[in-house]
Amino acid sequence: MAKNLVVYFSVYGTAKNIAEEIAKQTGADIIEIEPMIPYDSNRDHYNALAAYAKKEHDEDMRPAIKNEIPVKDYDNIFIGYPMWWYTFPMIVYTFFDKYDFSRKTIIPFNTHMGSGDGGTYRTIRKLEPGAKVLDGLPVPMNSAEKPDPAIIRTWLKRIGMI
Ligand SMILES: Cc1cc2nc3c(=O)[nH]c(=O)nc-3n(C[C@H](O)[C@H](O)[C@H](O)COP(=O)(O)O)c2cc1C
Repeated sequence: MAKNLVVYFSVYGTAKNIAEEIAKQTGADIIEIEPMIPYDSNRDHYNALAAYAKKEHDEDMRPAIKNEIPVKDYDNIFIGYPMWWYTFPMIVYTFFDKYDFSRKTIIPFNTHMGSGDGGTYRTIRKLEPGAKVLDGLPVPMNSAEKPDPAIIRTWLKRIGMI
């Protein structure tokens, strides 16, 4: 039987909510991308996080990941993240740089405040040409605060994951 892993990066917790619902519905294992240098999750400090993340983006940085993600042990890898500056957080680039996804299936999902997937699903196809990338699920932040299981179920069924 194919082995499924949900990997996510989340600072305010909304991508985490979606990740947990996907893991619940698919029976997948779940693991968080933990940054070596933690991000400020206090929503009152949004401007500071925005400026910090913009610098990482503009300097094309690859922030270090603290934990090992056992990608090689799985066939299907869900990857979830928030939109940051019209792409994924730079630490998600670190994740794609670090692991080999050839012959694996990648299933992206993301949270956002209006950008949808911002072209990131296409970016993943470019970064990982040896992987099969299924249709992803973009979720607006407000709905990801308390995810609707039915929306996630409909998507998982459409892409053949349940
Ligand atoms: C640094 C930063 C940059 C962001 N840039 C975008 C963006 O370009 N487009 C967008 O739709 N939302 C943007 N957002 C909103 C986040 O995608 C949204 O708050 C998301 O739900 C956060 O996910 P999380 O709760 O898993 O951290 C940004 C948020 C932050 C903190």
